[in-house]
Amino acid sequence: TEQVTFYEAVGGEETFHRLVHRFYQGVAEDPDLRALYPEEDLGPAEERLRLFLIQYWGGPSTYSRRRGHPRLRMRHVPFVIGEAERDAWLRHMRVAVDELELPEQLEKMLWDYFTMAARSMVNAPS
Ligand code: HEM
Repeated sequence: TEQVTFYEAVGGEETFHRLVHRFYQGVAEDPDLRALYPEEDLGPAEERLRLFLIQYWGGPSTYSRRRGHPRLRMRHVPFVIGEAERDAWLRHMRVAVDELELPEQLEKMLWDYFTMAARSMVNAPS
C-alpha cells in the first residue's frame, strides 16, 4: 500500500511555501511580534520555519541537515515568549492556515499541532 505523508497530502513544498510566507507577512506587519526577530531580513527565518515544517510533516529533511536536531524549545529561550506573544504568533498562523483552504481534517491536524507547539514554546510569565 502506498504511504502518503501529510506533506504530500496537503500539496508538498508549494503549500508550505505559501503557508510560511503568509505567516511572515503577518509578522512583518505586527510591531510587537516583529521586535522579537533579531534579523533585519525575515527571509532566513522564513526559510528555517518552512524547512522545519516540511521535515516535521514527512517531507525532505533539509532542515536537520542544515541546522541539526530541532530542539525548538531550547532555540526559543533567547526570546521572551509569554501568552501575548504566543497568541500573536497563533493569530498570524491562523490567517495563513485559513488561506490554504485545506480539507477540514487536514486543516484540523495542522492547527492542533500549531496550538500545541506554540503552547510548549512559552517561556515567560505574562
Ligand atoms: C525561530 C519566535 C513559536 C518554529 C524563531 C525566532 C523567533 C521565534 C524570534 C528566531 C528567528 C530566526 O529563525 O532567526 C517565536 C514565537 C513563537 C514561536 C514568538 C510563539 C509561540 C514557534 C512554533 C514553531 C516555531 C510553534 C514550530 C511549529 C521555529 C523554528 C525556528 C524559529 C523552526 C528556527 C530555528 C532555527 O533553526 O534556528 N521563533 N516562535 N516557533 N521558530 Fe519560533
